[in-house]
Amino acid sequence: MRLQGSPVPAEDEAGSAEARNSAGIPFGRKKTGRVNPFDYRNNELHAESVPLSRIAERYGTPCYVYSRAALTESWRAFDDAFAGRDHLVCYAVKANSTLAVLNLLARLGSGFDIVSGGELARVLAAGGDPRKVVFSGVGKSAGEMRQALSADILCFNVESESELARLEAVAAQAGKTAAVSLRVNPDVDPRTHPYIATGLKQNKFGIAYEDALDLYRRARTMRHLTVAGVGCHIGSQLTELAPFVSALDRMLGLADRLQAEGITLTHVDIGGGLGIRYRDESPPAVADYARALAGRLGNRAVKLLLEPGRALAGHAGLLLTRVEYLKHGRERNFAVVDAAMNDLLRPALYDAWHDVLPVVAASGGRVYEIVGPVCESGDFLAHARTLALREGDLLAIMTAGAYGMSMSSNYNTRPRAAEVMVDGAQAHLVREREALSELMAREMPLP
Ligand code: LLP
Repeated sequence: MRLQGSPVPAEDEAGSAEARNSAGIPFGRKKTGRVNPFDYRNNELHAESVPLSRIAERYGTPCYVYSRAALTESWRAFDDAFAGRDHLVCYAVKANSTLAVLNLLARLGSGFDIVSGGELARVLAAGGDPRKVVFSGVGKSAGEMRQALSADILCFNVESESELARLEAVAAQAGKTAAVSLRVNPDVDPRTHPYIATGLKQNKFGIAYEDALDLYRRARTMRHLTVAGVGCHIGSQLTELAPFVSALDRMLGLADRLQAEGITLTHVDIGGGLGIRYRDESPPAVADYARALAGRLGNRAVKLLLEPGRALAGHAGLLLTRVEYLKHGRERNFAVVDAAMNDLLRPALYDAWHDVLPVVAASGGRVYEIVGPVCESGDFLAHARTLALREGDLLAIMTAGAYGMSMSSNYNTRPRAAEVMVDGAQAHLVREREALSELMAREMPLP
């Protein structure tokens, strides 16, 4: 199954009328209705007002480039869509945990959904408010629980009976009370890629719906826990509303049964998962998503928590890379670029489709496999894209702001990419390219 799409340059900023992107869409023929942070001006792809070639010259490639305006707009659009009711947007840090991104969202007032002590440390370092942090994940260690308790986070999203018992013990030891929400597994099919479906019975996530009631009764008797809410996260890159609505209905049903037993929930957490357009998907608009959820919540006095990741960061970033070599073969043509699966794993891992745009618009060309230098045949960034290329050209791998840098690795001892945040006409380096010495700094030879 495909996971993807791409922003298309707006009409007024169009480059060559003849040029087409690698999906065959003519540049500048479509409007997206959203701020398009990456657009052609005088035939050259820009990030806001900065030519990407300038970023490549200054900071080298591969390099992630983000748009401050796009991040700001997507967060505000999400938050505004729920303005009519009590809510908290808890950005899923795993989508992009770069400090500058977290700091920007913290300044907008965002909450955060974390899944590790490391992510908590990042949120705090970025100036995030711990009282707006929810802690998800199936494998929280006692150390991570202590860390989160001492930071005074908003809530633990508990995923099993054993975790509940451990949290009670850790909180008792620390002399603290932990607010808990059970992450239920509503057994709803999110109709997405199997690797990122999480709300089905066969998935490792959450507490079986049928067991949740009993576990709430247990939690109520635990002296160092307070029951705060109920939550779920059914999957990622969802392109339909119905699974969200079903999951919410299941949780509200549970909340009603709890209420009947005198257990009042203060929040319902719908998780993340709203999809975006990588290629030709048509995910619901945020406003429709909000309307559908609000319709189900009616006038219940319960706060809605949301954990979007991809929908906030995906379109706000691209991966800038340079063509090292062109190999024109009898079977296939390869463009070997300087970014690889270690920089952007999504194509290799999910067969994900990301648009590939030439930084200098050009028409015609040949069909290329866009591949990296890593020694695996699975190291590709894109298949069969028609591009007019020369060695040394720059390419932009689009819609890479979410699950790009945050999933990168040092495989093949490749230093991780630099990251740049563009703000209008300014480009700010927000993470230096790793140095080889840093990659080896914690290793030692045998005595
Ligand atoms: N909340 C929880 C508990 C999650 O596990 C996730 C994502 C989110 C929120 C955010 O979901 P989003 O709004 O971003 O869909 N690496 C994959 C995506 C994995 C998502 C894992 N959980 C990819 O590149 O497509």
